[in-house]
Amino acid sequence: MIPYEELSIVNAPYRKELAACFEEVVVRGRFILDREVELFEKEFASFAGCSFGVGVASGYDALCIILRSLDLSPGGEVIVPANTCMPTVLAVIHAGFQPVLVEPDFRTYNLDAALMERAITRRTVAVVAVHLYGSCAPMPELVAVAERAGVPIVEDCAQAHGASIFGRMAGSWGAASAFSFYPTKNLGALGDGGMVLTRSADLASKVKAWRTYGETQKDTHTYPGVNSRLDEMQAAFLRIKLRDLDRMQAHRKTIADIYDAGLGPDFIRPLRRQGYTDVHHIYPIRHPERDRLREHLAKNGVQTKIHYPVPPHRQPVLQPVLSGQEFPITDEISRTVLSLPVSTAIEPSQAEEVVRVLNRF
Ligand SMILES: Cc1ncc(COP(=O)(O)O)c(C=O)c1O
Repeated sequence: MIPYEELSIVNAPYRKELAACFEEVVVRGRFILDREVELFEKEFASFAGCSFGVGVASGYDALCIILRSLDLSPGGEVIVPANTCMPTVLAVIHAGFQPVLVEPDFRTYNLDAALMERAITRRTVAVVAVHLYGSCAPMPELVAVAERAGVPIVEDCAQAHGASIFGRMAGSWGAASAFSFYPTKNLGALGDGGMVLTRSADLASKVKAWRTYGETQKDTHTYPGVNSRLDEMQAAFLRIKLRDLDRMQAHRKTIADIYDAGLGPDFIRPLRRQGYTDVHHIYPIRHPERDRLREHLAKNGVQTKIHYPVPPHRQPVLQPVLSGQEFPITDEISRTVLSLPVSTAIEPSQAEEVVRVLNRF
């Protein structure tokens, strides 16, 4: 069996170190917003080329808190890609805004600057750009459009730790960015976790207040904040794994390179663009007979996933918001896309076996 993901294998190299730091944190007896979170915030911000990091409880919370901290007109429209996972869209709604879904570029699966520009209205207050599957959205173009329109871009980097465009990291392009450390992410905790990155000291201190009940100083609650803190234990675990992230990324790239080079022309592979460094969070292929292909792989011991089988515009919760709008590109991606195993839990020889199985289809 070639697993899609196996976290016990992914975390095996760190078991001793994780156990030792668990012990250390327990002995220290400080579990909320202490040294580990502070150090991890600094280390992760510096990794992603940003000045400030604020650890929060999840990627979803990171998005909600950014949107609530940016002083946007309440109830305004926020542009989001139609081809994303539900947390991106729900964060917009939860923060009190109206999501406006925009079709992706069919070749990159990410936002298309021209379509985004067409969706901007007088009510647009922000854009959330998602770097889907570990490939950056076209930030130079998106930033140019957003600047002309005078709206901030928030980056959803949940799938893109370490991705970059011409050396500039995902998370360092917009007004602020949201990262998830959900266990299966390229940098995954042993539970939930998230981070807001920004280059603005003001925004960082507002986000810090928002994550602890809106408290700007002891016993002064300036915003209607929430409880959303990255905890010390997860921050300590993440510090250990961050030190090894380059190796994990290189492993994913080795697997992705095997697929890129080996898959026959019947499979639509991810587009590799000059200057774009992808981090292969997901390896999506497309095929017109996706479901039959998936069965063929399963019969031959290869686990796969679909990101995403039911796109946001087909979710019951969004029907009242979208009032029957159609998204044919997103539907077509959702109908034909298939994610191949690409984590550090699989070996290059297993990726070669996946290629053989696929090319026999
Ligand atoms: C693109 C994207 N945005 C947001 C999220 C939400 O992150 P979390 O699960 O940490 O809340 C995820 C992860 O599920 C994601 O893949």
